Amino acid sequence: GTTIPISSEQAAPERQQPSSLDECRRCDLWQNATQAVAGQGARRAKIMLVGEQPGDQEDLAGKPFVGPAGELLDKAMDEAALDRRAVYVTNAVKHFKWEPRGKRRLHKTPAQKEVMACRYWLETELETVAPDVLVALGSTALKSILQTGSATMKDYMDAPFEHEGRWVVATYHPAYALRVPDRESRQAAFAAIVEALKTAQRLAR
Ligand code: URA
Repeated sequence: GTTIPISSEQAAPERQQPSSLDECRRCDLWQNATQAVAGQGARRAKIMLVGEQPGDQEDLAGKPFVGPAGELLDKAMDEAALDRRAVYVTNAVKHFKWEPRGKRRLHKTPAQKEVMACRYWLETELETVAPDVLVALGSTALKSILQTGSATMKDYMDAPFEHEGRWVVATYHPAYALRVPDRESRQAAFAAIVEALKTAQRLAR
């Protein structure tokens, strides 16, 4: 075959567009993470669940939502009669952002510039999976989907809305339903997540 020689100048943009998530240098979060965590699930799922970023356990396992928040999400999916294998589960940000706190790695909320840098990968997932419905699990997911750091949950939680030809259902992050101090708020948050998953199923064609 013919190879067309390219100058280093022409090759440069390619270096900024890493072909693999593991080699991503679009922001600095790769430096302190064990590995990048890609989404997981059915390749043509009608529903895509979008979380924030891998947590401690996800960072080690290389899979999304396998820690405590994932357990709660599984319970909510059970209750909504939604099979995890039928959906696609991913995160707005693919590397775990944390700071040391004693022996623990304390989760840090990603900055909007990191969310936007990682939007590139969510976009590839959106193109591949082509879901009808996105479930935004918490504010970071919402800000990624809407591509604006000023989006607030309270403006988007009440009803599903259409965005770029898809339905978006915004609800609490599962970790929120684990950590709110009082039991009633935890139960209410869990119930809201279940409702959001049911809504997503109704909207999926
Ligand atoms: N929280 C998230 O947002 N995503 C995960 O994968 C795990 C915890």
